Amino acid sequence: MSEPAITIDSHLPLDWAEGAMRDDISRAFSNSPKVLPPKWLYDDRGSDLFDQITRLPEYYPTEAERAILAERSAEIAAKTGATTVAELGSGTSDKTRTLLDAFWATGQLKRFVPLDVSEATLLDAAEMLASRYEGLQVHAVVGDFTRHLQQLPIGGRRLVAFLGGTLGNFYEEERRAFLGALGDSLEADEWVLLGVDVIKPIEQILAAYNDQAGLTADFIKNVLTVLNSSLAADFDPALFDYIPFWDGLQERVDMRLRVETPHTVRIDALELVVEFTEGEEIRVEISTKFRVEKLRAELAEAGFDVTDVWTGEADDFGLVLARRI
Ligand code: SAH
Ligand code: TRP
Repeated sequence: MSEPAITIDSHLPLDWAEGAMRDDISRAFSNSPKVLPPKWLYDDRGSDLFDQITRLPEYYPTEAERAILAERSAEIAAKTGATTVAELGSGTSDKTRTLLDAFWATGQLKRFVPLDVSEATLLDAAEMLASRYEGLQVHAVVGDFTRHLQQLPIGGRRLVAFLGGTLGNFYEEERRAFLGALGDSLEADEWVLLGVDVIKPIEQILAAYNDQAGLTADFIKNVLTVLNSSLAADFDPALFDYIPFWDGLQERVDMRLRVETPHTVRIDALELVVEFTEGEEIRVEISTKFRVEKLRAELAEAGFDVTDVWTGEADDFGLVLARRI
């Protein structure tokens, strides 16, 4: 008998959504301003909305990143010599096929390790990939990339991909902690591949986070629905407006929800009552746009040497390859 193509590790206990979410959300709403951690955006509906966002005409990063991957994946396979590709926050792993195709063509790829908090999306992707690449071991990890990097399976030479600009969704301190933990989890001569969005005209950036069809607003407001169903809360999403804006000092899109009228919300599972005053905002998500030199320095601090930066023909997205030293 040959080995089964898919194995699944789950590092999220069954009650994780309730357990970890309780702590996160209690903290989020006792702080001022109120700041939500982004991982709670991705329930099944949130993952589906995000997938639709990636197909919007305004949302340039996905196609920009796909084009750079198409151009550079063979070079990445040759240069890294990796036999395992891991992917953090892998979602549908849709673009990742472009990368994996190049690794598969050389015969070097033995294992793919997607890691995501969104279990259903992860398992669909694992099946899709196991049937596309016959003989590839797909080792799916249901986990949180801010907590479970040490649980990535070891062995072979690994390349860890973190695509889609997800690195930009961390606040600066969190990003430093994440890159440090990533450095700690890899051996010398293993690799990371980061897909990061770069500074460009503000109008183009803002349009990507404020689409005409209103999908981004639905995606951001969905977090209130997640809280309603998981924590027996009674947020009225209709009272919240989605407000994206460009923070020029921090060079990031800041996505918030604002109530125009005072709103009292009960979160029964936390025995908490949260008062919103008129005009009060919840910070839901940021999306930092990078300057390559700064990122290079941050990676160096975490033990990585950047070997390549590709920004594509339009110079509108960055793919950064770095080696653990
Ligand atoms: N890599 C894909 C998806 C990006 S969306 C792309 O490039 O299009 C971000 C993904 O990260 C989602 O699938 C979400 O479920 C996952 N995610 C968000 N926070 C996470 C966390 N803390 N740990 C693991 N996965 C997370
Ligand atoms: N990593 C993606 C980004 O920063 C996540 C994302 C895409 C997103 N569209 C969004 C986050 C809309 C919030 C709202 O681009």
